[in-house]
Amino acid sequence: MNKDEFRENGYAFVDWIADYMEEIEKYPVKAKVEPGEIKRKLPGSPPEKGEEFEEIFRDFKEIIVPGMTHWQHPGWFAYFPANNSPESILAELLTAGMGAQCMVWATSPAATELEEVVTEWLRQLMDLPGDWVGVIQDTASTATLCALLTAREWASDFQVNERGMDKNFTVYVSGEAHSSAEKGMKIAGFGRENIRYIETDDKFAMKPEELERAIIEDMDKGFRPTVVIATLGTTSSGAFDPVEEIGKICKRHKIWLHVDAAHAGPAAMLQEKSHLFRGLENVDSFVFNPHKWLLTNFDCSVYYVKEPDLLTRTMSIDPAYLKTTHDQEVKNFRDWGIQLGRRFRALKLWFVLRSYGAKGLKEFLREHIRLGELFQSIIEETKDFELMAPAELGLICFRFNNGKMEREELDRFNRELMERINSGGEIFLTHTVLREEFVLRLAIGQRTTREKHVQRAWDIILQEAKNLKKQFS
Ligand SMILES: Cc1ncc(COP(=O)(O)O)c(C=O)c1O
Repeated sequence: MNKDEFRENGYAFVDWIADYMEEIEKYPVKAKVEPGEIKRKLPGSPPEKGEEFEEIFRDFKEIIVPGMTHWQHPGWFAYFPANNSPESILAELLTAGMGAQCMVWATSPAATELEEVVTEWLRQLMDLPGDWVGVIQDTASTATLCALLTAREWASDFQVNERGMDKNFTVYVSGEAHSSAEKGMKIAGFGRENIRYIETDDKFAMKPEELERAIIEDMDKGFRPTVVIATLGTTSSGAFDPVEEIGKICKRHKIWLHVDAAHAGPAAMLQEKSHLFRGLENVDSFVFNPHKWLLTNFDCSVYYVKEPDLLTRTMSIDPAYLKTTHDQEVKNFRDWGIQLGRRFRALKLWFVLRSYGAKGLKEFLREHIRLGELFQSIIEETKDFELMAPAELGLICFRFNNGKMEREELDRFNRELMERINSGGEIFLTHTVLREEFVLRLAIGQRTTREKHVQRAWDIILQEAKNLKKQFS
């Protein structure tokens, strides 16, 4: 492709994205395709000769787009959001255009220094402890793995890195923690048997007294309690573990405290939600995802640590070919995570932070919280529906329950209700299981979701519930 063709195709791509954003509601939010359908439309072998760019673009529109689930659709109420923004999309284009690989300061000084700046800006915006230092990871799963590895080294005086595991290091999470905790444990060599799932209270938050009991029991048995992973905003129900009390327990027993605030993190910017983030001064590491609820294209996860030296000592490898002149004066983020090569993720975050400003970001978050409260009140006021967990930050867990069905039938009803709601294509919501009961989750956080979309979601839910009731009675 020559320069002129690049320009022409580039403009066409931007036009396509602009139209896509404008017309996104014409697509079914959840892809309506069968397994294997897309693959069948694609050749099994690569082309021998290069093809026309126009043809590839045409196939993108005709084959790929219909097979996509549209995360930026205003009817997106599934999982958690992964919202982007026009500002972030364009910054990603610049990132791709420069194609930089930002493994060390010298390979892209501005990328390293911008990463330092934006993570510090976010720290200030979110009123996080002043001694925390940030680094951008791809995902929260990676950040949590980094925390587990660092804690393992810290607890073993860096001996596991030298000699491998020779002790039973134990990890504590609530039963509601994200699966990335268990995955990280497996990868970091703790062994699944050494994870302790701590009981939760009626709000699905970790019970600190149960945590301390488990820690003491393990110490008595000769285990080495090593890490607690507390969650602020659990995936299932948005529960907040009591970090303040957990932090004191960790201090008492010399245990690493990692906080997973993957979705809820941005709410720390809001004065009225600051009570949810109390006790962070005793936290050793903390992760949240701007790629979830802060307008920044996937992937972008911000990881804060209290003592960067522990992280870099855990990760650092120093082959001759990676040494540079300024190693003593600069940050080389290759030592702050797992992989060597790094994308320039700070750029899109910078564009977002500057374009919206603190005021714009707070307004964005508050609107979703308001819509969440609105939906919560609808559920509370409607006969035959019930709230299944306290609703915070736009996540509402609910179900249909007319009081006439046994547990199993109720689960079947709500599962069928979800299938019907989603099959319409206007909205997409997902489920969870709380205390072994099937629960619907409505997560509000898409950039384009307005009150009318939440209202429409409710109309669809209500109508489908009415239709289904006839079938069940
Ligand atoms: C609380 C929590 N932690 C971790 C994750 C994993 O995030 P990531 O996909 O960035 O690894 C999620 C994903 O939804 C989450 O909700």
